[in-house]
Amino acid sequence: MHILNNISLRPYNTFGIDAQAEHFCEINGINDLKKALRLHEYPNKLVLSGGSNMLITRDIQGLVLHINLKGIELVTEDEDHVIIRVMAGENWHQFVLWTLDRDYGGLENLSLIPGNTGTAPIQNIGAYGVELKDIFVSCEAMDRAEQGLITFYREQCQFGYRDSYFKNEGKDKYIITSVTFKLSKRNHKLNTTYGTIEDELKKEGIVTPGIKDISNAVVAIRKSKLPDPKVLGNSGSFFKNPVVTSKEFAIFMVDYPNAPFYKVSRDTYKIPAGWLIEQCGFKGKRYGDAGVHKDQALVLVNHGNASGKEILHLANRIIEAVHQKFGIQILPEVNIIK
Ligand code: EPU
Repeated sequence: MHILNNISLRPYNTFGIDAQAEHFCEINGINDLKKALRLHEYPNKLVLSGGSNMLITRDIQGLVLHINLKGIELVTEDEDHVIIRVMAGENWHQFVLWTLDRDYGGLENLSLIPGNTGTAPIQNIGAYGVELKDIFVSCEAMDRAEQGLITFYREQCQFGYRDSYFKNEGKDKYIITSVTFKLSKRNHKLNTTYGTIEDELKKEGIVTPGIKDISNAVVAIRKSKLPDPKVLGNSGSFFKNPVVTSKEFAIFMVDYPNAPFYKVSRDTYKIPAGWLIEQCGFKGKRYGDAGVHKDQALVLVNHGNASGKEILHLANRIIEAVHQKFGIQILPEVNIIK
């Protein structure tokens, strides 16, 4: 294990924020992780994996651990299902492609989500009608204080909308080292209910889609709306879609009868934050190098050299404007390193 000094974190976060790490080391195995956590001369440690769901607003004093644990393993299978264990540092989309190549179903709607597999359970990644929790079996995580490996099953992870135990009571206590999924080998359960997927399949003339067709449709939709972080720094949806009660929703609908919405449960509705932000006039706006994406207002972008503080300033401005106009509080989805 090699400790480097004064490293730019620009290549390690998808926003492309040029913050400095005072010390930095690559974690290539479980033993590296144990050793690094025991380095008491660096009391401040920041764990970084794909860097796709974080906004770094300052230089990092202390040690950055870059999780580079690799490997995909078939644990067991029967005629219908396969259990796959993936190490935390595997790129999410590359793993999705690996499963599609073998005709394993379950991850196709989650194609092209940036980031690594180990961070996927933290915010229960989701897209186009599917969430990670739907195919999740367990994850293994290292206890930061004791350096022991613990298995967390689905119930223990307390998954919610872009939420889990690891964002709440478990925050900063564990480092996920691997994730285990249950995928189908045949009779794949396809999820095409999310409106735009069906439109996309129709456009391609596909009547009886397979999992690869769904993946291709999702990739096409994402590419049309969401910027590629390699071209334009971003962290996907910066905000969560706010969930309101049916009473609040009824009041909102009187003023905005044409607003899009999703019914979440009998008493709750989700209003797309992208729509709220667009109504406030922010879509496509740019303030220096910090901006709001032109095709999806939920995505904040770094046009080149924005600092994390500038992006955060814009985010706060948006939160305030949405609150003023609609009386609705939107909250960031990304992890902000303040
Ligand atoms: N909308 C606007 N203006 C915008 C953006 C959206 O009016 O600038 C409207 C759309 O017209 C549509 C509605 O809002 O009626 C929903 O938009 P979209 O389908 O793009 O989805 P979203 O609710 O904005 C969520 C996820 C995305 C995920 C998509 C598809 C959250 C915070 N975001 O976005 O996830 O890909 O649904 O399932 O839940 C991510 O988490 O990083 C992410 C990209």
